[in-house]
Amino acid sequence: MRELLHGGGVRAAAAALGVPEGEILDFSSNLNPLGPPPEVIELLEEEGILLQEATTHPPEYPFELEKALADRWKVDEGSLAAVPGSVYGIYLIFQLLRPEKTVMHVPTFSEYSRAARSVGSEIVAHKTSKERGFRLCLGEYSWRIEPGIQVAVLCNPNNPTGYLMPLDEVDALARWCDREGCYLLVDEAFVEFTSQGSAVDLVREHSHLVVLRSFTKAFAIPGLRVGAVVGPEALMKRVKESTPPWSISGIGQKACILALNCQGYLEKTRALVKEERERLRRDLSGLGLSPVPSWANYLLLQLPQGLTGETLQSRLLKYKILIRCCDNIPGLTHRYIRISVRRAEENQQLLSTLQECTKG
Ligand SMILES: Cc1ncc(COP(=O)(O)O)c(C=O)c1O
Repeated sequence: MRELLHGGGVRAAAAALGVPEGEILDFSSNLNPLGPPPEVIELLEEEGILLQEATTHPPEYPFELEKALADRWKVDEGSLAAVPGSVYGIYLIFQLLRPEKTVMHVPTFSEYSRAARSVGSEIVAHKTSKERGFRLCLGEYSWRIEPGIQVAVLCNPNNPTGYLMPLDEVDALARWCDREGCYLLVDEAFVEFTSQGSAVDLVREHSHLVVLRSFTKAFAIPGLRVGAVVGPEALMKRVKESTPPWSISGIGQKACILALNCQGYLEKTRALVKEERERLRRDLSGLGLSPVPSWANYLLLQLPQGLTGETLQSRLLKYKILIRCCDNIPGLTHRYIRISVRRAEENQQLLSTLQECTKG
């Protein structure tokens, strides 16, 4: 059976406690704390919409969504492909490129190594350390991209550390990759939570830069499964040709076209996340937990000696609070947990409960 690495946490926790899922305060997944934009909620709640969408085919190919994305991001439609979730895009890119060797920084999102292994690629791991805030040094990473490496991965901001490589450094790394003939795969699933622009703006200037975008996190619609890949036209032509018809649901396409026009909502989200993240960081440090600097809507924490993520998780669950243990993420240990940044009153509830749960 295929091993499960993410999600399902709330479902399992609620079942174990014998309570409805809605009663669990979920700090383990990292979606927009404000939920989907009101316009998207209105669409999803429209009377009869689900029956209508379920009983008709979605567009055979998502031309309208791709046009809306191309207009919003100011790229040619030929440089962009809509995909059913960015993780689908990750696997598809690996299947098309079939790299013999891939370099990735560690710790990071586990699906890159799984996608690389699915095509038999050797993985070169570049470790980042807690002592340096899990910062990815441009110079050190560039040196890993030596002849023979065909794909380099950059998760920006990185999950689970929250480190964000500045855009001018991403540009420099992409230039290095162009010279080496190595594709640079930049996953920006969380970029909307930062105040930095997207590497999509750099794609035109590079021959080997591929950027993955997602609607899952910023618009809190993980069930609709929509993402996009932006990159060199020749490769995007192959992505489009390899995507089966009707891949993205009609409701997913409609919701994303609406979401693209909710830029004000993203500004509100960024302001909330920044303020709450800094408050959490300060107060968590006061509790002896050690947060890693983050530019995203989550914080990676190192627990004090003698306290494991599993112990803290089970103590918090008694209060119906769920956190993410990070012991199954290569490069981390059982002393790391990740929490998402939520609304002020929810964060306060976590802090007060942690005060109890980290004693002795
Ligand atoms: C870094 C990163 N990229 C991609 C994804 C998956 O996004 P999607 O729902 O668009 O497939 C996740 C989900 O956790 C993620 O953490």
